[in-house]
Amino acid sequence: MRRIHLKEVDSTNEYAKTLLHAGEDCLVVSDIQTKGKGRRGRAWVSDGENIYMSFLLHTEMEISQISLITLVCAYSVSKVLEMYHIESGIKWPNDIVIHKKKVCGILTELCKAANDRYYIIIGIGLNVNEDRFPKEIQDIASSLYLETGRLYGKQKMMDDIEREVLKNYRLFQKEKKFDSFKAGYEERLLNKGKKVKVIGLEEYEALALGIDAYGNLLVEKDGKIIPINSGEVSVRGLYGYT
Ligand code: BTN
Repeated sequence: MRRIHLKEVDSTNEYAKTLLHAGEDCLVVSDIQTKGKGRRGRAWVSDGENIYMSFLLHTEMEISQISLITLVCAYSVSKVLEMYHIESGIKWPNDIVIHKKKVCGILTELCKAANDRYYIIIGIGLNVNEDRFPKEIQDIASSLYLETGRLYGKQKMMDDIEREVLKNYRLFQKEKKFDSFKAGYEERLLNKGKKVKVIGLEEYEALALGIDAYGNLLVEKDGKIIPINSGEVSVRGLYGYT
């Protein structure tokens, strides 16, 4: 796939949007970002020796399946880390966590191109060789280097992520369901079997059981099973970040 490598950009997701008119799938990577974007309008610290990459991929999937793509990607990144003998977990829906700290975030955006085709932008920020984080996020954010004591080749890791994400994305497009990934995803799901705080229109504690076919988190409260949609509510663990 065509890869565009930039030294500096505001956000690889934003840059990918400027390529929508070309009607071609591609991957945008940058050494640093000056205005990295996180989920829920937050900023993503993007100045270190880390991976910032965004896929721009044509999609014919239904809207209901789009949120599952981020789960597929979180699973893919965690799989790649496993190839490097790094054990990681997933905090629903798509944060990659090591030793209770977040090392990777994924931001997906759906865009309509001029030709009326839909494209998905999948932005992956993986903290690789970062050796320090701002005080405010030190307790919840980390890098592969800080958690394993080893430095990693960004280029090779990026190639591995590209291969794994595309392989799984294509399989998901073909099968149009999450079945092939569910077991692997749930194996890594740190929330499973734990109490979580559901934060939405109302706030309550519940027990996380797993996910359903749409990628909703299933929680149990007062004997009732409730599917939680990641677009509407967020979930916090009761102990630490996860
Ligand atoms: C999150 O909040 O967890 C999502 C973070 C996503 C960060 C990545 S870095 C590459 C891409 N470009 C952006 O501006 N954001 C995503």
